[in-house]
Formats: sequence, C-alpha cells, structure tokens
Amino acid sequence: LVQAKECGKCRRIFRGENDFLTHGDRFRICNRGFFWFNCSCGSTLLAKREQVPWYSPDAQLRPGTRKLYEVFKGKVEIPLVSSTVGELHQMLGSDAPVEAIVKKFKDEPMLSAAVLIVANQRKAFEQQAIDSIKHALIFVGYVEVQDIVMLASVTMFQFKTKFFAMKDFWRESYISGFLAEFFNDRLALGFDPDQPYLAGCLSNVGKVISAIAFPKETDEIFARISQPKNNEKWHGIERELLPAGHSTLGEIAAAHWGFPKYLVDAISEHHNRNDLFRAVKITLPDLVATSTQLAHRFLGNIHLIDNGIVNSFMKKLNVDDDRLTDLMKEAADIYRKCAV
Ligand SMILES: [Fe+2]
Repeated sequence: LVQAKECGKCRRIFRGENDFLTHGDRFRICNRGFFWFNCSCGSTLLAKREQVPWYSPDAQLRPGTRKLYEVFKGKVEIPLVSSTVGELHQMLGSDAPVEAIVKKFKDEPMLSAAVLIVANQRKAFEQQAIDSIKHALIFVGYVEVQDIVMLASVTMFQFKTKFFAMKDFWRESYISGFLAEFFNDRLALGFDPDQPYLAGCLSNVGKVISAIAFPKETDEIFARISQPKNNEKWHGIERELLPAGHSTLGEIAAAHWGFPKYLVDAISEHHNRNDLFRAVKITLPDLVATSTQLAHRFLGNIHLIDNGIVNSFMKKLNVDDDRLTDLMKEAADIYRKCAV
C-alpha cells in the first residue's frame, strides 16, 4: 500500500493520483530522484517516487507537444533541478527564520552566487543593489526569493555550445524580463509585476535545452543570425535544423521543472503568431512575445526583431512610434544604472 502524504501547513492528505491532480500542482523530479509538488495552500512538499507511481512529466505536456517529444525524446537530456532548490522553496514557504535560510544558502555557494546575480537583476527596475542573501530575504521577501531561486537554478545549467554563450543569452533574457515588467507598469497592463518579469526572463529557456541537447545545430543558428546581412531569425532557422523549436523545447523543460502554468504558456506561445493578440485585452504571452523582440532593439540587434509582433502590440495599445522610442529610452536609462 502506498503511504499517504500530508501537507504540514494545511493538513491536506494526498493519497492517490486524483488528490494530487486536484489539490496539487507544479510536479517535478529533482536530481536526487525525489518528487516535489505544491499543495493548493501554496506550500512546497516532498514525496518519494514510490508514492507517486502515476507521475510522468510527459503527461503534463499538451497532446501535440507530447507526440512530437515521443519522437526525439531519447536524444534530449532535460537537466534536473537540484534538490536544494526544493528544500529552499520549502523553507521559504514555511516562515523559517532568516538565519536558517542564510545557513542553507551558505552550504551552496554556487547557487548563492547565482541567486545574488538574479536578485540584482530583479531589482534593476527599482535601482537597488542587493549585496547579500540576508539582504535579499529581507528586502525582496520570501515569496519573490522563491522565484529568484528557481530562475537562478536554471541559469546554472551549462551550455555545450562553443559560440552561443550562456552569459550573452542570460543578459538578453534579463533585459526581456526587465522590459516586460517596465511595459506592464508604464502601459498599466495590470499584471502582477513578478509574472511579466519571470516570463520575460524565461521565454527563451528552450534555447538552454537547445544549447545542451543540440550544441552543433545551436551554434550554427547563432552564427547565421549573427550576420545581419543574412536577415534570418532564430525560430526560422531552427525549423530547418532541429526536431523542435525553442518554444516547444522550452515547454517540455518547463513541464519537467514544474513551472507554474502562466510561465509554461508564455514560453510555448511567444512566437505563435496564430494565437498571439487574439484576445480583447493584452495577454501575458502577448506582452512577453513583445518584450523578447524589444530586447533585440534594446541591444541594437535591429535585424533580429520580428516587427509583426511589435506592431500588433503597439496597435492594440495605441502606442505610436514616438511613444515607443521614448519608452525604450527611459527603459535604457533605468536599466543601465543598476544591472550589468
Ligand atoms: Fe524566442
């Protein structure tokens, strides 16, 4: 008989698949083989793999993606998130004392360093420098630090590419997150600021999988888009070279890592011209699709911009060229003062 799992915070009991699917979400397996999930009360829980015999990360995928993944699954390695991330999530979700959390971070210097980088990026909008984990916990708050730890853990996955560099990839991704948050604020789009930020930073996370699972092809894509005269876009070339594009690879990774649904949607939709800008109001994937394109403009890579996406965004929100130029200037002023 499989042992039941009880939530330490709200005392909910998880017995079988149905309990987990109804009252839990964000299922993921860590590098030590444990099963982590979130209870509907928000706390992070740990179960043994034997307690969840029904679980399969592939089952979380949309049917079309799952079918595609079946074909090349054996060739793609999706890195596993460290169990420390789950432990930290648990502590941050349960009002553990600051000192205990700081101690846990001290045991993981690499992760701590990554968290500080991300925390400083996260606060670029407010132009605040964060110099220690303790400072981050007090100034940023436990809930946001949970997100920062998740993002930081993904920034640690090492690329196998020779030319497509992690540092440049993440720099562009942070700018995209910053711009998503900035436009959400300046155009009063009404999203909780953490969501555009994280979704902007992670929209292209499929390129991390691409750089790990298909390094040669990824370098080729990178070489081709780096030549402005070629006038090619990443997602156009990958259709030629890879079994699936970075939106799909990202969706697969996001499902394995137990990302919240809003992130999975933004990741999988950010180049989907059929579905973007169809709703009456701007959706989070619309905003993130745009911030990803505007990050190219921010970095001066005009040839990489998918103008169709930016134009749809401007039309929908009645933003003209002058206003966009002013906003981009303001964003550059704010960003450069703090973030590197
Ligand atoms: Fe993309």
